[in-house]
Amino acid sequence: MAQECSCDARFAETSDLGPLDDIIERYGREKGALIPLLQETQDAYGYLDEAVMRELARRAGYQLSQLYGVATFFAQFRLKPIGEYLIKVCHGTACHVAGATQITDEIANQLDIKEGDTTPDGRFTLESVMCLGACSLSPIMLVGEDTHGRLKPTGIKKILKQYAGDSGSSKEEE
Ligand code: FES
Repeated sequence: MAQECSCDARFAETSDLGPLDDIIERYGREKGALIPLLQETQDAYGYLDEAVMRELARRAGYQLSQLYGVATFFAQFRLKPIGEYLIKVCHGTACHVAGATQITDEIANQLDIKEGDTTPDGRFTLESVMCLGACSLSPIMLVGEDTHGRLKPTGIKKILKQYAGDSGSSKEEE
């Protein structure tokens, strides 16, 4: 059953810079704390918004380029907002062998986006992740909180339709 994402933080107003106070208080300019500083900021805002990054640099005493240097190096950080449904396709070894690449390709084709992108209506974001810990169901993906396993490219359209609502993110039946 499709479930709406319950992550309030994902939809947090980026103009609300209040959460930064707590985060900076915890980590400040502590040596080696840049990654947890960015992780907590992303958890609070859903992604690393430019205005938030500027404020973080100013308040925590970093160069903005230092923050972006780390944020662009590690795949865990997002610089763009994610969609209502985050699709995580597992590309761990078992899922890779079972055809994860074809699954990602089919989703990208159905949604007309590239991996890492969000549909223009903000409905879906497509990501690749490493082992989700359910290798016996490979290939597997999460759509929001829902798990879909033993995927086949031919079944992707039907799964996406459950989440598409009226927005028409996925391609209509031909
Ligand atoms: S490799 Fe995909 S769940 Fe383990």
